[in-house]
Amino acid sequence: MTAQDKDPAAAARGAKLASDFTQSLHYDRRLYSEDIAGSIAHARMLGKQGIIDSDEAAKIIEGLQQIEQEISAGTFAWKPDLEDIHMNIESRLHEIIGETAGRLHTARSRNDQVATDTRLWVKKAAQDAANALRQVQEALLQQAQRHTESVLPGYTHLQRGQPVVFAHHLLAYFEMFDRDAGRFLAAKRAADVMPLGSGAMAGSPYPLDRESVAEELGFAAISANSMDAVSDRDFILYYLFAASVTMAHLSRLAEEFIIWSSDEFGFIRLSDEYTSGSSIMPQKRNPDFAELIRGKTGRVYGHLMALLTTVKGLPLTYNRDLQEDKEGLFDAADTVLPALSAAAGMISGMTINADRMRLAADRSYILATDIADYLVGKGVPFRQAYIAVSALAKQSIATGIGFGELTMEHFRSASSLFDDDVMQVTLDSAVAARDVPGGTAPGRVKEALQQAMKRLDAANSEM
Ligand code: ARG
Repeated sequence: MTAQDKDPAAAARGAKLASDFTQSLHYDRRLYSEDIAGSIAHARMLGKQGIIDSDEAAKIIEGLQQIEQEISAGTFAWKPDLEDIHMNIESRLHEIIGETAGRLHTARSRNDQVATDTRLWVKKAAQDAANALRQVQEALLQQAQRHTESVLPGYTHLQRGQPVVFAHHLLAYFEMFDRDAGRFLAAKRAADVMPLGSGAMAGSPYPLDRESVAEELGFAAISANSMDAVSDRDFILYYLFAASVTMAHLSRLAEEFIIWSSDEFGFIRLSDEYTSGSSIMPQKRNPDFAELIRGKTGRVYGHLMALLTTVKGLPLTYNRDLQEDKEGLFDAADTVLPALSAAAGMISGMTINADRMRLAADRSYILATDIADYLVGKGVPFRQAYIAVSALAKQSIATGIGFGELTMEHFRSASSLFDDDVMQVTLDSAVAARDVPGGTAPGRVKEALQQAMKRLDAANSEM
């Protein structure tokens, strides 16, 4: 007799702990429609191939359809003791159709089943994220359209560097989000391979028609190796990486919104919908949504690191560790999607203070590079011009004279080559001068905007 035999209460506690520890139902129930779709396609194929009786296949399919309705109606009785979504559905199928339910799992294992379910789920989630990114890109283009001439400081090291137009700044994010959408679509392609038919890991002794199952489920291909199919999760890593980079980009944008909406900058005002008041300081409008986008970025990175770590030491093929793949995946999706819709809303709803932006550029030494370039135009080597203008900048900083207030006398003291036309170096001339492909000259930015609109239209029509 063991100690547990003597103490039934301890045995019950032990069993409870074991089932709490191993069960995954509280999160994998999100896979119910994928699981049911996979089972229906599998049952149909078993019937067609004569592996099970076609009447039995029909009975199974009907039962599964009923279960789907019960789950979506919220009447399904979940049983955590049954461990996971797959066993919950199979057990309910027994209740509904009796012994025949036992034939569904012919030529199948939970290993190829769960890999299939998760791939279906990732395909959809990746497409949803790409679509949400397109909304953010659309919002950026709408704002950019209004600001192809609005000048603001461009920063390096958060120090005013050179003037740019606001549309150019926004289009920088358009590019980042465009690549993010591409990464999600790559994740979708990575997931678009069907494991069913791999069985537990070695394949199946039954005459399966894997292609027809893949076609019914909308998979582009069937897996080429049964051991790979049940044991790798790199398609989830693709998704988590795409989500991580997207969050990094969103977080940078959020950070800029936070800075720009501060009293010190005052470049933008976020709409009330995306700010909240302080419980003590009545004047405040805190950029909570932007802060939470920034703040939630780490958890998505965490899920990527967690899964990389989960898979790194696993011998082929399936190991229960792999059950840890889903919770982080779901949480990443639950984080990145709302973050994307908040970003789109914030971009569309913000008010731009173009005067404040221009003023910040005006009251600065932001034209220093252009004045050096002016001397270069008079034949001075750039390095020498740089030294002359840096003396000029030092002098005006020391005397508190703004760059805009410098007289010809000041200029001449730095170099005799300065002429009256140096007064024509302005914020507008500076941006207009950056007339290269990819540069901030308003003409170039308008062209880039047109191109971006076409690219977005093309992307939207592929969705
Ligand atoms: N809940 C499991 C998972 O998510 C399903 C597969 C279980 N397979 C097994 N052989 N125990 O990975």
